[in-house]
Amino acid sequence: MKKKHLKLKKKAWFILSLIIFIPIAIISFIKIKQDYEYKKTYEYRFLEQDYTKEEYNLLAKYFDDNKLEDLLNKDKDTLLLDFLKNDKFIIDNLDRYLNFYNKYRVGVDEVILNVNLNLDYDWYDEISEVDTSKDILMLVNKYNILPEDYEPDDLVSISVKYAWGSGNTIRKEAYEAFVKMWDDAYDKGIYLIINLGYRSYQEQEAVYNRLLNARNRKYADSISARPGHSEHQTGLALDIFEKSNSNTETFKDSEAYAWLKDNAYKYGFILRYTKENEGITGFNAEDWHYRYVGIKAAKEITEQNLTFEEYYFYNVK
Ligand code: DAL
Ligand code: ZN
Repeated sequence: MKKKHLKLKKKAWFILSLIIFIPIAIISFIKIKQDYEYKKTYEYRFLEQDYTKEEYNLLAKYFDDNKLEDLLNKDKDTLLLDFLKNDKFIIDNLDRYLNFYNKYRVGVDEVILNVNLNLDYDWYDEISEVDTSKDILMLVNKYNILPEDYEPDDLVSISVKYAWGSGNTIRKEAYEAFVKMWDDAYDKGIYLIINLGYRSYQEQEAVYNRLLNARNRKYADSISARPGHSEHQTGLALDIFEKSNSNTETFKDSEAYAWLKDNAYKYGFILRYTKENEGITGFNAEDWHYRYVGIKAAKEITEQNLTFEEYYFYNVK
């Protein structure tokens, strides 16, 4: 009887041991297998190569297995990571960023800005058609062309009260904003006067060709847009002077220039071509050329000291 009891006890112990041991064995086996599998993953291999988990996630977000293998065969690529981490980074532009960097050796921010704005291309290379659906925020510049027959359908005549001579036109919304601005400037004793509003493709062609024939292409390109590339064709650009000073050389010293510089954005206008942004616009500074973009955009552009190109690229496109 005692022997039988002992046998039973032994059996119970054996079963109990199995009940404890088997799950532990299974869990250990799973764990070892998981570790083994994990060590084969890109995440593990990049962490082993001194990349952080965030850096690996960025690489995995942008690159396929071939590229990841290439990277693992080299030292940690900190330059590439600096590009990927930049909030203005665009994967499709990566090769252009690297080419620009290798050519000019400037900082990552500067490389990305330049390439995103197409400045790695020569002026008038890589031209796209203007996206006129952006309406008052459409971008017309040396990389964006308007069709030959583009003419806004809401042009209105500018009264001779506001412009030199009759015959100038401008889009209705820009005109209404200008009139408000004119009234407020007038209250301050400043008589604003418009030299030019809308200009057709054909008129722009004639102006450009005159300058080209008078001097050379470099000169013409520095002060006049080629046909299709002028903001005046949008009906949203105004050349604004003061009645007592419509001289391009001295307008900058006038009271009107100073007033416009401080106030134009409140009515939705921005000074489009400045000395500081010549490298982005490709035009010599024009102290008189204002572009209507609406109050919201004009305020942001002015307060953040942006070019319209930058604003367009990051907020409109
Ligand atoms: N003068 C400006 C740049 C134009 O031709 O539109
Ligand atoms: Zn102009």
